[in-house]
Amino acid sequence: MKTYIVGNWKMNFTVGESSIYLHKLLKLIHFYRGIEVVVAPSTIALQTLSLQLNRQSNRKKVKLAAQNLYYRDYGAYTGEVSVSQLTGIVDYAIIGHSERRYIFGETDKEISKKVAAAIRGNITPILCVGETANERDFGETEEVLKDQLLSGLRDVSLEDIKKVIIAYEPVWAISSVKGARLASPDDVARSIEIIHEQLKALYKKDENPVLYGGSVNPSNAGAYLTIPGVNGLLMGGSSLIADQFNAIIDLAKRVQN
Ligand code: 13P
Repeated sequence: MKTYIVGNWKMNFTVGESSIYLHKLLKLIHFYRGIEVVVAPSTIALQTLSLQLNRQSNRKKVKLAAQNLYYRDYGAYTGEVSVSQLTGIVDYAIIGHSERRYIFGETDKEISKKVAAAIRGNITPILCVGETANERDFGETEEVLKDQLLSGLRDVSLEDIKKVIIAYEPVWAISSVKGARLASPDDVARSIEIIHEQLKALYKKDENPVLYGGSVNPSNAGAYLTIPGVNGLLMGGSSLIADQFNAIIDLAKRVQN
């Protein structure tokens, strides 16, 4: 299985800055067959970066992801972007990120529709799951992860499940969250195991890449990447610095060998 190194830029960088970043990253990175490098810029920069990648025939080196999408194809949905509008521009879409769930009030039902819509449009959903600090303190991690998977994958058939990537992001470990703590590899290992167990329980098979995200940086990335069942990383802060992001890509290759 490939290792996925995904950078979620969140609401950072203007279009110009995004383009300069990509230019720098393309100069830095080596193309490794077993590593899938994905960046998720803000929606407004997607088209520019897509053209930039086409122009330099670099679509193999770096793939694009949307940070969100809407599940209807077109219509009166002010401010939303549909799968059909993203087709040909992105290969991936981050869905159900905790910032979407808790800042913008996205529900499990909406998330499941978005996952299904992405699959219909041949965009690979990266479904984010993860417990909050309170849920963890109350010992609810297992229940929360299982519930989020059950509901997020509600409309995904046995045939389509292989098209989904799962990202485990404990909300309390995300660097921008107040009082964020670093998740220990043991913490992560247990949750990753729960995720794989639930996939097996729901689909009688478990072929999905599962990524880890939460305060990953070049010094701790190796420890997370070597946890059994972890197939890559989803990063916020560290993905905003091209040198750091590239260092983690190189590290992922070394860990793979
Ligand atoms: P940080 O890497 O900044 O903790 O962000 C994680 C994240 O939310 C990626 O989606």
